[in-house]
Amino acid sequence: MPDRLDDLRSEAEAAIAQAGDVATLEDLRVRYLGRKSELTTILRGIRDLPPEERGPTGQAANEARQTIEQVLDMRREALESGELERRLAEDRVDVTLPGDPPWPVGRLHVINATRRDIEDVFVGLGFDVAEGPEVEYDYYNFEALNMPPAHPARAMQDTFYLSQQVVLRTHTSPMQVRAMELQPPPIYMVVPGRVYRRDSDATHTPMFHQVEGLAIDEDITLGDLVGVLREFARALFGPDRDVKVRSSYFPFTEPSVEVDVSCFACGGKGHLPDGSRDPLCKGSGWIEILGAGMVDPNVLRFVETNGYDPERVQGFAFGMGIERIAFLRHGIPDLRMLFENDLRMLEQFG
Ligand code: PHE
Repeated sequence: MPDRLDDLRSEAEAAIAQAGDVATLEDLRVRYLGRKSELTTILRGIRDLPPEERGPTGQAANEARQTIEQVLDMRREALESGELERRLAEDRVDVTLPGDPPWPVGRLHVINATRRDIEDVFVGLGFDVAEGPEVEYDYYNFEALNMPPAHPARAMQDTFYLSQQVVLRTHTSPMQVRAMELQPPPIYMVVPGRVYRRDSDATHTPMFHQVEGLAIDEDITLGDLVGVLREFARALFGPDRDVKVRSSYFPFTEPSVEVDVSCFACGGKGHLPDGSRDPLCKGSGWIEILGAGMVDPNVLRFVETNGYDPERVQGFAFGMGIERIAFLRHGIPDLRMLFENDLRMLEQFG
């Protein structure tokens, strides 16, 4: 019997040493030490043995049991720490890795991207950025801009009237007088924002965006306007751009000008390298980008009590369409595409 116990013990030890995981170890524990195991059967059978065999067999069986238990415990510990280490290694999280967003991060709409580019240029030139209301009083949208009721120039803009006195602003110019009411001169600011007109075709949308510019100080001239806009044109359209002004008309500027930038497609020549007419500038070499002028003294008179004495200060104003700038830079064929929110279109920009 002790021989059989020796065999059993070494068989168990070999099996335990081979066990690769805790579950296998548990099976071995049941097989070698469980209620139906050979060892348990031997231990139970001791009382039926001849008295002289009971002592040595019992001792040998108990020793075998203890040894197997010890070996099981040691192997379990080894396996468990190995498994823990493996799991720690597998589950390791590198907290220094960047996040993994569930959906690709979006981008700025081409209008907002263009708006920011425009703002950056003017902030760099010392202008502040301000915003104003889109639902506006007739007073700021027209009257204080030198367009009294029934002034024919009101017909230049197809206006959404909300009531006799309230409109959806047709341009960002109403912020000229609003800003001058809020701060005395000098003032250097740009005003980006939405504006509304009853227009809809490939080059007009009923809602669009403008950036107003206003600079009022002592000794400001049309030359300052041209210099500022030249910097702007070069920042947005390339270092070789030039600007020119053509005379125009706005009720709130005197003189008024349209500002053209030399064409960036043909370099101002009007024709392409193959000699054909440049379609972008229609062969003229110049592209119109905005309206501007010297602020009309009549406008300053609305805020004269806040320090805007037209005998002492003067300045320039300009207004540009953000869509037009974006359209020129990116060659967008139809302005309505900007607001259809088709991702295939929008993902090309920004
Ligand atoms: N507000 C004018 C427009 O929308 C543009 C403009 C602004 C012209 C400022 C002169 C000065 O057409």
